[in-house]
Amino acid sequence: MDLISLYPTWYEPAVGSGWVVALIATFHVLASHTSVGAALLFAYLSHKAYREDRDDLLDFVKKYGLFLLVFTYVAGSITGPGIWYSTTVASPNGIGALIHSFVWKWATEWVFFVIEVVGVYMIVYLVGRVDKKTHMKISVIFGIASLATMVIIVGILSFMMVPGKEIWFEEGGYLNGFYGTNTFIQTGMRMAFMFTMTAVVGGIVVAGIKDVAFKKEMARKLGWLGIISTLIGAAMLQWYLTSVPDQALLVMENRLPDYFVPSIVAVLAGTLAYFIITMLQPKTLVAGFAGFMTITILVAGLWPEETARESMRKPWVAGQYVYSNQVIGRDVPGMDIKSQLPTIEKVGILKAHPFTPDELKEVNDSNLIQTGEYIAMVYCSNCHSPSETGIRPLHRYFPDGVTQARMEKYVKGALTTGNIAYMPKMPMLDSEVKALSAFLVMNNEGGQPAVVAAIKQEVDARNRALAEKQAQDKVASLTLPQEVK
Ligand code: HEC
Repeated sequence: MDLISLYPTWYEPAVGSGWVVALIATFHVLASHTSVGAALLFAYLSHKAYREDRDDLLDFVKKYGLFLLVFTYVAGSITGPGIWYSTTVASPNGIGALIHSFVWKWATEWVFFVIEVVGVYMIVYLVGRVDKKTHMKISVIFGIASLATMVIIVGILSFMMVPGKEIWFEEGGYLNGFYGTNTFIQTGMRMAFMFTMTAVVGGIVVAGIKDVAFKKEMARKLGWLGIISTLIGAAMLQWYLTSVPDQALLVMENRLPDYFVPSIVAVLAGTLAYFIITMLQPKTLVAGFAGFMTITILVAGLWPEETARESMRKPWVAGQYVYSNQVIGRDVPGMDIKSQLPTIEKVGILKAHPFTPDELKEVNDSNLIQTGEYIAMVYCSNCHSPSETGIRPLHRYFPDGVTQARMEKYVKGALTTGNIAYMPKMPMLDSEVKALSAFLVMNNEGGQPAVVAAIKQEVDARNRALAEKQAQDKVASLTLPQEVK
């Protein structure tokens, strides 16, 4: 049998599976980065409170801690598993690759995470109940545990872009996969920006401080923290770009949306301006302003950044060997992994895929469009939506009235060969090229993907039957008493 490890495709017609993941991940980044930065800030403030014997600082830690508990810890704990669920269905082989390399790293991370969660409760509820020195010690442990979760996860995230060291492909070894220049620079960059987020979100808490002098002091502290970390973060971002594969830069230069660079620059400038204003005029620091800045960073800063990181990895989703469409596209001797491309080249994608329905295993005249659609779902839908909306809709790329012959030439020349840097190599038998092209031509002319239409029809039919049955039941129950009478 020439089957390869592929799973059913998760197709999300409105926005595309990739965006569902990105949406959840963006919230998660805001929540997790804010809390890690805050943990370190708390360690510092607790230390200062102990050294200078100040209750107001601990009171601030308590308020900010409670705010984090209610918002970021809840949001973080929901979106964290959300990332697992969504990536597992969107990219089973991608997540599999990460688990095979890093399962113990993740287990370690969860240990630190448990300490972090217990820690935040202790930090909040023990203020005033234990002496300042003990509180400081707890804060330091909390800070270290929080930072450890971040460092571990960034190692795994960097592996998604590129394994730490080239030698990993030959020899495996999780340290080779984990540590690389990209890991270190990305850790530094995220640490800087996490303080930016901590400073902005902390503004919501500072806004509620009644004591004018203390409010001014905290506005200045967070302001400086924010300004310095934003500047360092911006510099690290430049440095980070030197550590990604050339391919990623190519995608970035050619393929990122036009709004990307202006959006990031505007957010950085806006954030700096915000900190300067609130430092000079602490009374402008009201919850609404800080909340507005938080949303701005989320929408205009983190969203483009997360989607860019995702785009730049193309055509890979993990470790430069799992394509975004889940096919393993490269031998990794160090992990005993073999490229699946030779098998697909031999038997075609329809026969190689274990979930192809029997009637679609062979292309013939009566199933041409359906097999074509199936191939588009398997090969393309992770990166391109075959519907009107969603991620990079396919119909946008072809001119109106494109012919079957021209389409076949493109599919065969560009897609089966892997000639385009940001797309996977997608081998197809000639009959499969024909089928995919027929579907793409139809799709280009505004045809609804057959499967979606068929599902819709079935659901409609079922609903109609249900409604009819309900109507009948109703009539029966209405007529019954009369009959009894
Ligand atoms: C790994 C993700 C990925 C997969 C899988 C993928 N593409 Fe693409 N494709 C891209 C990216 C990225 C672009 C760049 C265009 C953009 O960003 O708008 C692109 C561009 C294109 C273009 C525009 C022309 C060009 O050469 O840039 C066409 C046509 C296209 N893809 C068709 C397909 C078809 C058909 C499939 C499935 C058989 C497919 N792609 C699979 C990522 C992918």
